[in-house]
Amino acid sequence: MAEVVIVGDEEAAGRLVADAIVSLIRSKPDAVLGLATGSTPLATYRALADRIADESIDVRGVRGFALDEYVGLPAGHPESYRAVITREVVEPLGLTPELVRVPNGDPASIEHAGADYEAAIGAAGGVDLQILGIGRTGHIGFNEPGSSLASLTRVKTLTERTRADNARFFDAPDDVPMHCITQGIGTILRARHLVLLAFGEAKAHAVAAAVEGPVTASQPGSAIQLHPHATVVVDEAAASELVNLAYYRHAWSNKPRWQGI
Ligand code: PGA
Repeated sequence: MAEVVIVGDEEAAGRLVADAIVSLIRSKPDAVLGLATGSTPLATYRALADRIADESIDVRGVRGFALDEYVGLPAGHPESYRAVITREVVEPLGLTPELVRVPNGDPASIEHAGADYEAAIGAAGGVDLQILGIGRTGHIGFNEPGSSLASLTRVKTLTERTRADNARFFDAPDDVPMHCITQGIGTILRARHLVLLAFGEAKAHAVAAAVEGPVTASQPGSAIQLHPHATVVVDEAAASELVNLAYYRHAWSNKPRWQGI
């Protein structure tokens, strides 16, 4: 079962997850982080940047792999995930840019971009801690419903719902690319620790399906149930459709704090 931690707000979630990442980096200065984009992980990145600055943590050796990228955006487009990861993660945290990879969404080389990315993750020794958001469709990464639970990094077609959800980042809804390249569910499951974050009522159904529903490709988030170390950090609104809420609270409040997440 995934551990479910219900927190007061996004800032509290950010502090909790940042704490786990700081512990990881202290024990492994060349730790490999799996980086999500979107609104959800921003509080974690902010909290992590604060900890790194306040405690002068050396992160020059930390490596990173983004979950996904749009296909076909011009290089340097501000909403390409390469640009987003640079702006929201690499720069504020002070990571070494060359050590942070994003799947290559250039159509010219897209045929082998997935295999190249898998090889790079393998050469880095795999991801230590993977940060995940979850879409209203239940997607993790850009693995939309129906994605194989064994899938590896490859090109996918976005659902219209995801395109509409992401339209807020673009000038016009039609500007949201139709295709993406995303780590597969099988890729994500190879990470040593999964941390799935979700906030707000709009995510409540997807969270309940991921944590308590059947394991099914129709709800890609449910794949986390197959992972031996998955942590779900949610606010009250995102937790509101969970059935076993009382038990999750009980387990968390009785967990020795030194164990962390
Ligand atoms: P969001 O996206 O963090 O912007 O809500 C999450 C996702 O689509 O995975």
